[in-house]
Order: sequence, then C-alpha cells, then structure tokens
Amino acid sequence: MRHQVQLPAGLSLRPWAPSDARTVLRAFAEPLMERQADAPVATFADAERWIERRRGQWRRESAYAFAVTDDADTALGGVAVGRLDLRHGTGWISYWTTSAARGRGVATHGCRGLAQWCFTELGLFRLELGHRTDNPASCRVALAAGFATEALQRQKLAWDGVRHDVETHARLATDPQPA
Ligand SMILES: CC(C)(COP(=O)(O)OP(=O)(O)OC[C@H]1O[C@@H](n2cnc3c(N)ncnc32)[C@H](O)[C@@H]1OP(=O)(O)O)[C@@H](O)C(=O)NCCC(=O)NCCS
Repeated sequence: MRHQVQLPAGLSLRPWAPSDARTVLRAFAEPLMERQADAPVATFADAERWIERRRGQWRRESAYAFAVTDDADTALGGVAVGRLDLRHGTGWISYWTTSAARGRGVATHGCRGLAQWCFTELGLFRLELGHRTDNPASCRVALAAGFATEALQRQKLAWDGVRHDVETHARLATDPQPA
C-alpha cells in the first residue's frame, strides 16, 4: 500500500506525523474547525493525541488520514477516509484545510488524490461525503473532485440547538475522472 501520493502544484499526501502537532493545534483553534475534530484540540498535548489517534487508526486499518503537504513538507490540511465497509466497498471522505491555505486548490487536489488512492489501494467502489448546505466551499470541493450530488438530508445535524440540512455526494470507481 502506498503511503505517499504526489499531487499537482507541488502538493503531496502522506500520513500524519508527530511533527505536525503545531499545525494541527493552530488549525483547530479556528471556530469553523471545532466541529471537524473528534475531540477538542485546545492544547499541544491534544494535538499530539489527535495525530496519535490517526496513526492508530491507520495501524488498525480502520481509517486512513493523510496530511496534504506543500513542497516543504508543511501540512496545509487533511483528507481522510473512514467508516470503511469492505463488504460493500464503501468509505466516507472528509477534508479540511488551514485558514492560510484556503482558496488555492489544496482540498480539491487532496480529495481527488485520496479518491484515487481509495480506489486503487483499498479497492473501494463507492466514496461518500456530506456537507452542510451553508458550506458552499465544501460543495465546490466535492464537485471538483468528482463527487456527484445525491441527496438532501433535511435537518440531519444539530449544533447548539439549531438543526442543519446536509447534502450528500458520492463518487464511484466507474465515474469519469474529474477534469
Ligand atoms: C471547505 C474547505 C475544505 C475548502 O478548502 P480549500 O482548500 O479552500 O478548497 P479549494 O481551494 O480546493 O476550493 C474551494 C472552492 O470553494 C469556493 N469557495 C470558497 N469559499 C466560498 C464561499 N463562501 N461560497 C462559495 N464558494 C466558495 C472557491 O471559490 C473554490 O471553488 P472554485 O475552485 O470553483 O473557485 C475549507 O474551507 C475548510 O477547511 N473549511 C472548514 C472545514 C470544512 O468545512 N470542511 C468540510 C466539511 S464537510
């Protein structure tokens, strides 16, 4: 299984490393990112644990989280596949980027590269993702990475007493490569 994926524009995918802790801590300090974490990341030790959980998932083969890095090996964001169902060949994709790295294709390239990796390295057939309907940037990334819109899940998520609609997308191994 390949652990490194070269992407366009000098970007790469590689597994998270302990040396990424400072980047992870800074990334999750942003209010927009709080809900992307599976547990609060408020301290350097939290960031180290966040990375160690991802490395543990990789070892157990339950999920695969990659840092999207630049040509200096600095992490600009993350893409991951989890909720693996090998019987049906499905997985759930997620992505985020640091605020400083946004708007230059990091999530799109990362998501495209991860999808290809899932099809070739894990043999998955169907990759799924979902975003809140008030997150148009995430929708742009999904479409640009070849994930077709599938459904609207009404009021699926509840945050602070407010319910939010979620739009789901999926990409099949047999779908055309995104342009
Ligand atoms: C969503 C997110 C991953 C996008 O990362 P990114 O690296 O900036 O994405 P890209 O540069 O590859 O593409 C961003 C696209 O969104 C568009 N976009 C950005 N802000 C937008 C907005 N407010 N409204 C509409 N489109 C927007 C950009 O124009 C671009 O589209 P284009 O390529 O067609 O011009 C990033 O904003 C993020 O991490 N947000 C917080 C976490 C999150 O929401 N993750 C997804 C959860 S489902």
